[in-house]
Amino acid sequence: MKELQDKIINEGIVLNEEVLKVDSFLNHQVDPMLMMSIGQEFARRFENQAIDKVLTLESSGIAPALMTALYLKAPLLFARKQKSLTLTDNLYVETVYSFTKQQTSDVTVSRKFLSPGEKVLIIDDFLAHGEAAFGMARIVEAAGAEVVGMGIVIEKSFQDGYRKLQEAGYRVESLARIASLSIERIEFAEQNIP
Ligand code: G4P
Ligand code: NA
Ligand code: NA
Repeated sequence: MKELQDKIINEGIVLNEEVLKVDSFLNHQVDPMLMMSIGQEFARRFENQAIDKVLTLESSGIAPALMTALYLKAPLLFARKQKSLTLTDNLYVETVYSFTKQQTSDVTVSRKFLSPGEKVLIIDDFLAHGEAAFGMARIVEAAGAEVVGMGIVIEKSFQDGYRKLQEAGYRVESLARIASLSIERIEFAEQNIP
């Protein structure tokens, strides 16, 4: 997606060869017009899938996922990250390890909001090692619902998440695919730019 690539080039800050900071439009301050375009594009890519619900993980997945849900006319459900859980009876819980943050968190969704047979689109802001995406997929499947695809705003193609998700049989659509990061240059991977 050209608009997103331009935004990454103009405003992204390469922290090191593994981490791209995009807090001016996605992870802290949010650009609503860009989120609208992102939502429109995900909705276009998944429009024939009869999606019942959009699922993301708080907090940075919410903005792009909400716009996607708006264009798909489906509810948005966001999984919560919790530190210490006491009552888990009415929750789906999956433990997700973050390589970037080197910490584990429990990701939860209320059983109330996922039903067997529902078709769910998973959205996230970044794809690195795929831990968050796999965690959300396990929750959907635990509910007897179906993951129809995953929409990723920024995929770091040099990390192994995309490959692992593909191998597991998930359809992954990434709007920006980063082949490599260096202080001098952000290199994008080949993709079908609409
Ligand atoms: P994974 O799920 O694909 O395995 O990724 P990982 O655990 O490494 O990611 C942990 C957190 O770091 C996630 O945010 C993810 O979005 C973010 N992240 C990963 N790589 C990058 C990067 O290059 N740049 C930025 N800006 N973020 C990255 P989170 O902990 O869920 O936080 P939040 O932003 O949703 O609150
Ligand atoms: Na994030
Ligand atoms: Na995220």
